[in-house]
Amino acid sequence: MRKKIVAGNWKMNTLLKEGMELARAVEKLENEKTSDALVIIAPPYTHLSKVKDMIENVRLSAQNCASEDSGAYTGEVSPAMLVSAGVEYVILGHSERRALFGEDNALLNKKVKLALSEGLKPIFCCGEVLEERESGKHFDIVKEQIEVGLEGLSAADMSQIVIAYEPVWAIGTGVVASPDQAQEMHHEIRGFLASMFDDKVAEDMSILYGGSCKPSNAAELFANPDVDGGLIGGAALKAEDFLGIVNAY
Ligand code: PGA
Repeated sequence: MRKKIVAGNWKMNTLLKEGMELARAVEKLENEKTSDALVIIAPPYTHLSKVKDMIENVRLSAQNCASEDSGAYTGEVSPAMLVSAGVEYVILGHSERRALFGEDNALLNKKVKLALSEGLKPIFCCGEVLEERESGKHFDIVKEQIEVGLEGLSAADMSQIVIAYEPVWAIGTGVVASPDQAQEMHHEIRGFLASMFDDKVAEDMSILYGGSCKPSNAAELFANPDVDGGLIGGAALKAEDFLGIVNAY
């Protein structure tokens, strides 16, 4: 049985005190949730070890990690450092990392492998930009992101991974994918995984939808058979909205 997951990507938002208050509020509401979805939060690096001390049921993710173990990489944070701070998941391949920081599929594959080798669970993001969808290339783009980004992994590795489909045109725009568009792509992704790995890997994979997901539209997205939860940006910055999405299950 695959897991239902709702993960909050805080991006570069909240100062430490605000972040701690938000984490405390999420933990409190998580304890009263009406759904069995796993709740994950991804605060900025600076908040991680403090937030770790404030949460019990809520799980902790980073938003990125380095592609190298240690050494002369000024400004980078390695997967082992994240694990040492109590982090369990790491978001990799977010479209903002791809577009603003030039992270390509090959680099992401290196990060995924290093993260897994340190025991971190990658939340691997994929998704097309608007022109790619309008020119009918969206399935090919997402397939390539998955084929290269998850290349060389075993079925055991795949059991530690979560996939997030985030159409770039829906991220932070208020334009949400329709439930049919989300279901269609999630179903395709499951098909790619079945051909790259096997049916069990495909069936067991939690595939989250991300992009302008809110309490008001989450239920119809999550009602689709291949949508196993959400990766939430803007609406994760208010505990009530975020848990509203969790409780939409
Ligand atoms: P959004 O962001 O919910 O603000 O659209 C989603 C994401 O970038 O993960």
